[in-house]
Amino acid sequence: MNIKNSLGKFAYSVGNMNPNSANDLHTSPSQFPGLDVYAVAGNPVGHSKSPTIHQRFAEQSKQTMHYGRLQPAIGEFAKAAKSFFADGGKGMNVTIPFKLDAQTLADVLSPRAKLAGAVNTLWIKNGIIYGDNTDGAGLVRDLLAQGIQLQGARILLIGAGGAARGVMGPLLEQKPAQLIIANRSSAKAGELVTLLAEVAKTHAVQLQSRTLLELEDQSNTPQAFDLVINATAAGLSDQSPLSPIAAANIFAPGSFAYDMVYGKTTAFMQQALHRGARVSDGLGMLVEQAADAFLIWRGANVSIDPRAVLSELRT
Ligand code: ATR
Repeated sequence: MNIKNSLGKFAYSVGNMNPNSANDLHTSPSQFPGLDVYAVAGNPVGHSKSPTIHQRFAEQSKQTMHYGRLQPAIGEFAKAAKSFFADGGKGMNVTIPFKLDAQTLADVLSPRAKLAGAVNTLWIKNGIIYGDNTDGAGLVRDLLAQGIQLQGARILLIGAGGAARGVMGPLLEQKPAQLIIANRSSAKAGELVTLLAEVAKTHAVQLQSRTLLELEDQSNTPQAFDLVINATAAGLSDQSPLSPIAAANIFAPGSFAYDMVYGKTTAFMQQALHRGARVSDGLGMLVEQAADAFLIWRGANVSIDPRAVLSELRT
């Protein structure tokens, strides 16, 4: 930690010196008198990059705050979050597996958090806990920063869990020509299409669902996609959700493959590279969703540079 004192002299403090020590995993705002205290809550959360990212944003914008970690036991998120805010905490990022619990906890939800069915950013104002979801906006900004044209694009989103649902609204708002949701089991993909049908209509997007198996049939996918996003958990176990036949149908030189997992070239990314497509992991999305949270907490007018933070993390 790096706290000098509470007289306004300190630069910034962050609980990342020993991320697995018991204290570091249970940030108590009252331990940091005079500081605005934030935390990322997840389980496990010891290796989260959020404290490092927010530390850099705080340094860039000369903000004074402490950003730590919280690791509630499974089933105890609400208790831990309530006690964090009661103890003076100002805001919280929420990651796996607590995004649904955070949605339940919030007194007031932003429209995009309602649509996403999950909350990744909480804050308290006048005793009221607010919840938002910045994941989709983070993904969109990372894609645009990488030069990907979304308007008019043909997009394939693989997965129909919380990660996929969280980004569908912001993707549709970019007015792609087509958004296809492909999932291993068909029911979940169909449910997401029904849920977002009105939003798709508003933005004149053709929204459809497919099973992963259907992607193998070339009559279903006569053309490669401009953008393919992997929002499944398959990458975590070194698998791709796509069979080799499906990968051959959906990737071509000119496609862009984006995996929400970060820190490695996943099996999904390797399939895309093999077909001559460009690829990205999800580190930029992580940084951009954090940037949105930081601006919600600290004011939209503070000056931060997420792309510089991303470059630093990459090196
Ligand atoms: P999250 O909230 O991270 O999206 P989730 O709700 O458990 O997690 O959803 C995981 C997604 O990854 C689902 O779309 C799941 O497909 P099913 O709905 O058919 O279960 C998908 N998934 C997980 N492992 C996969 C694998 N090995 N291949 C293909 N899809 C996989």
